[in-house]
Amino acid sequence: MKDRWNLRFAQDDWAYGKEANEYLKQIITELEPGEAWFAADGEGRNAVWAATLGWNCQVFDYAAMGAAKCKMLADEHDVKVSYHVKDLVDVQLSKCDLIACSWFHTSPEIRSRHMPRILHSLRVGGHFVMEGYHKSQMSRSSGGPKNLDLLFDLDEVIAELTGPAAPHMKVIQAEVTETTLDESDLHRGDAMVVRIHLKRV
Ligand SMILES: C[S@@+](CC[C@H](N)C(=O)[O-])C[C@H]1O[C@@H](n2cnc3c(N)ncnc32)[C@H](O)[C@@H]1O
Repeated sequence: MKDRWNLRFAQDDWAYGKEANEYLKQIITELEPGEAWFAADGEGRNAVWAATLGWNCQVFDYAAMGAAKCKMLADEHDVKVSYHVKDLVDVQLSKCDLIACSWFHTSPEIRSRHMPRILHSLRVGGHFVMEGYHKSQMSRSSGGPKNLDLLFDLDEVIAELTGPAAPHMKVIQAEVTETTLDESDLHRGDAMVVRIHLKRV
């Protein structure tokens, strides 16, 4: 999988465009800038956008080619983003006010263990924001992994992120919705997505 992402990010074009994810933008715009981690941010589009708002942004992603693309995008916007080539399974986040990710689909075994773990790096009052494809996206051609195990079931993911392995998180938003994506040829058209916004309390 990692090789596939590296190949994709080695192309001259931008796998998911250069603009940040619309849902992340909608939520993050309302928050006071502080320290943020963007999980699996690929070419860094979300982190670079947030940095232009004044967030101090760090990214982790296991695809090294993403780091080069993120640097190019950050230079275009005259901002700095610190990029760590790291796998979710062994990344250690510094204390932060925001953890955000779009389309970060990993195996349920890894996700259920390590997403709650990284939430402990949020300061009390910090936010977690995520958009990903719902299981009902499986038959659609508007993006997402063609593997049911990697797609999200809302109840399952919320149970993980608010369960005993996580710090105390308040659910601000948790929904399955249909949206129209226009991020790139890979994510275009009507799609079934999961949107989650949590706050550490
Ligand atoms: C669909 S891409 C989304 C990239 C980015 N979030 C965006 O929306 O533009 C999925 C990303 O997850 C990263 N990824 C997948 N599994 C990972 C893992 N276990 N640890 C770190 N990064 C991972 C890939 O390298 C890739 O950049």
